[in-house]
Amino acid sequence: MVIGLVPTMGALHAGHISLVHRARKECGLIIASLFVNPIQFGANEDFDSYPRDQERDFGIFERNGVDIVYAPAIDVIYPDGFGVTVTVSKLTECLCGTKRPGHFDGVTTVVSKLFEHCQPDCAYFGEKDYQQLKVVEQMVNELDLPIRVVGAPVIRERDGLAMSSRNTYLNETERRIAPALFRTMRTVAIRLSRGAELESQCEWGNDALLAAGFDRIDYFEVCDGQTLERARGYRPSLRIFAAAWLRETRLIDNLAADEID
Ligand code: PAJ
Repeated sequence: MVIGLVPTMGALHAGHISLVHRARKECGLIIASLFVNPIQFGANEDFDSYPRDQERDFGIFERNGVDIVYAPAIDVIYPDGFGVTVTVSKLTECLCGTKRPGHFDGVTTVVSKLFEHCQPDCAYFGEKDYQQLKVVEQMVNELDLPIRVVGAPVIRERDGLAMSSRNTYLNETERRIAPALFRTMRTVAIRLSRGAELESQCEWGNDALLAAGFDRIDYFEVCDGQTLERARGYRPSLRIFAAAWLRETRLIDNLAADEID
């Protein structure tokens, strides 16, 4: 039987569930993991305040056809004295990798353990965290793991805001500002397709987010969709990546530059 794994940190929303539904189409047994992974959070990040509601999450998984929920205790993943780090180089040295040092090491280390514990044939990841998806793909390829990594599209609210467990941090005013992230990326995608110059569009995107009410911009970049290297000129398979702060909340999003229906 084909086993599908959907790794999550809980606080489930329709983005997570889209992965479960995709897995159900392709696999006979669905495992979803539920583990808020301490080592992928920086010292000043939101590990303590990350939303946790296991009972709700178990119910949602059950109603959506998950067969097994794997919710390990912390010492099952990280026993005393645990000292291994799985690192993917290069792909992790840009975008969120620069802004969140150690984050992707935390992700690849926990995902390796989840893969080992669950032994999936297929593993499902969202393009919402596009860099994470590419990093996990490289890990699986280069470690010759017998797992098919499946990437699934970003699920959005009606106003374009990418669904995220962290959206619950936003107050009413911030929630009104938040969709500007997607809107700005979309505007840039349209302008690039009409021949606008890359660098000036990234600068414009940065300024437009500040003007919309974002407090700080981590990055607004156009990169190659495979290598994640910053692009110099317009060509197929580019992606727009943005990360920006509303007070204490960091939102990320990305969009294929030719995704402008
Ligand atoms: P988490 O943020 O809970 O996300 C779990 C999975 O859901 C990831 O693959 C993520 O990309 C996907 N996802 C989140 N929001 C989405 C959206 N709006 N549309 C589509 N997919 C979405 O990502 C993690 O947890 C962790 O880093 C993890 C991989 C579990 C390792 O700890």
